[in-house]
Amino acid sequence: MLRKLYYLLTPGQRLLVRRIVFFPADLWDFVRGKNKELVPPRSMIYTGTGDFLKAGELYLSYFNRYGDLKPHHRVLDVGCGIGRMALPLTRYLDAAGSYEGFDIVETGIKWCRENISSRYSNFRFQLVSLQNDLYSSSGDKAAEFTFPYKNDEFDFVFLTSVFTHMVPEEVENYMKEIERVLKPGGRCFATFFVFGNQTPPITPKRYFTFPVDHGHYKLMDPRVKSANVAFDFDFLSRQLATENQLTIIDFIPGYWRDMERKEERDFQDIVIFKKGD
Ligand SMILES: C[S@@+](CC[C@H](N)C(=O)[O-])C[C@H]1O[C@@H](n2cnc3c(N)ncnc32)[C@H](O)[C@@H]1O
Repeated sequence: MLRKLYYLLTPGQRLLVRRIVFFPADLWDFVRGKNKELVPPRSMIYTGTGDFLKAGELYLSYFNRYGDLKPHHRVLDVGCGIGRMALPLTRYLDAAGSYEGFDIVETGIKWCRENISSRYSNFRFQLVSLQNDLYSSSGDKAAEFTFPYKNDEFDFVFLTSVFTHMVPEEVENYMKEIERVLKPGGRCFATFFVFGNQTPPITPKRYFTFPVDHGHYKLMDPRVKSANVAFDFDFLSRQLATENQLTIIDFIPGYWRDMERKEERDFQDIVIFKKGD
């Protein structure tokens, strides 16, 4: 019910509601001196619930375990939000390693530049003006966007909870771009909601379903397409991977399917793509 009401708001209104709802908690943290360095106040975190620091640490362990991330890698964080994944990487990447992140929401990029790039010169954040009905009312089409990076530039590209908010033509374009900017042999770590014969059964709680069926993809809410999007495994493996000379080398089912939490599983499904064989 609350989720449905939230989706009725515009992207700007959603950010404002968050600011108002969490202002008292932020003020209380401030009064008690509980603010943590480099962690944004709760009212500014528009990228998901849960413990900001712990989520970043957990994902870093997945990047190592499933993505073969190394400290000297050149890394791209697509849809970097407000730095949840960048933060643990500031301790992990060494002087030879570097980080680029881009996103479509200005508050997140501004925070990351002021708080992360100011301390870590090998971390750079860019704002790009693109439209998304959950996060940004204006901007160009993501389906036609060219990433602002050279060919074969990155060892590791990741998207955490980003393709779950993008429609198929946008995801197709992004995978083409990811293949272009990855070095041969480089890996892409991306989270999705995946359905289809080759994947484990889905027995979700009633609040997390995808009732709008478009064949190769499904939507949670027809009015806000990007609210949550699920994709057929065949679409990922044929259209996204094979057509882009990428190979799916691992699929780690998420616990959104059965709500059985396990340490090695994220809520969303994790898919690992590799450029080349
Ligand atoms: C759920 S948040 C996740 C943010 C971040 N990856 C994290 O895990 O903390 C989804 C993010 O995707 C961004 N986003 C949506 N559409 C995008 C697009 N076309 N290109 C880049 N980022 C996009 C949103 O602005 C938002 O920051």
